[in-house]
Amino acid sequence: MFNNTLDDLGLKYNTDKASTWGMNNQSYLGHNYLKSYELFMAPMKKEAFTLVELGCFQGASLKMWKEYFKKAEIVGVDLDENLKAIEEKRISFICSDATSQEFPEKLSQYKNIKCIIDDCSHAWADQRISLEMLFPILESGGYYIIEDLECGTTGAYPNFPPKIEDSQSFWDYAMDRLKILRVSESINQQAFRPFFSQLPQRIQQLELSIAMSIIIPGAIIFRKK
Ligand SMILES: C[S@@+](CC[C@H](N)C(=O)[O-])C[C@H]1O[C@@H](n2cnc3c(N)ncnc32)[C@H](O)[C@@H]1O
Repeated sequence: MFNNTLDDLGLKYNTDKASTWGMNNQSYLGHNYLKSYELFMAPMKKEAFTLVELGCFQGASLKMWKEYFKKAEIVGVDLDENLKAIEEKRISFICSDATSQEFPEKLSQYKNIKCIIDDCSHAWADQRISLEMLFPILESGGYYIIEDLECGTTGAYPNFPPKIEDSQSFWDYAMDRLKILRVSESINQQAFRPFFSQLPQRIQQLELSIAMSIIIPGAIIFRKK
């Protein structure tokens, strides 16, 4: 029996973000992200905004977002051009590599992007590239979610290896981004974190624009200032 919680909708559309999901008549434990997401997504239920999901597979999660966020425009992004077929009212599709430098331009037609979910290659290096490229285009108060951090250096798709070789765990990278002190805009930052000014400008900007982070098993969520 579905009560239209976000997890109920995940079960209805059969995404592995839900508490359970099924394939070939087998039932599996899901990532169980949705009960946690609902804690911060519920206030956005009636808002008109754009949600972008990187990685669509068969479109299950896009349909779930559409039913949960009644006024949102849902944009799915995937390497698989056949997924154009999942377009319907309030669901559009962009065929792109989510890590390519041209990708943000393809998103520029969409306004008021308040939620971005990275559920594509799951390779740590790719997750970093997309975060650094896309966090700047997220609206103030918006959420950037990175899922399935357990997949590690190679990610879930060995056929599409990550673009840069880097063994730093995404968890370590994410924790580094949160080391910024709230005195950062003042001279005191120099004393507390002397290497801040040596970070690339885009990383300094990223750190300065994070308001909050939520960590759940397998995923991390950044809220933009
Ligand atoms: C885990 S599935 C997405 C599942 C979907 N979000 C759901 O919950 O129903 C991952 C998808 O990411 C796509 N993908 C993998 N690497 C990608 C990349 N670099 N850019 C865009 N899409 C990618 C794959 O083609 C696949 O369809």
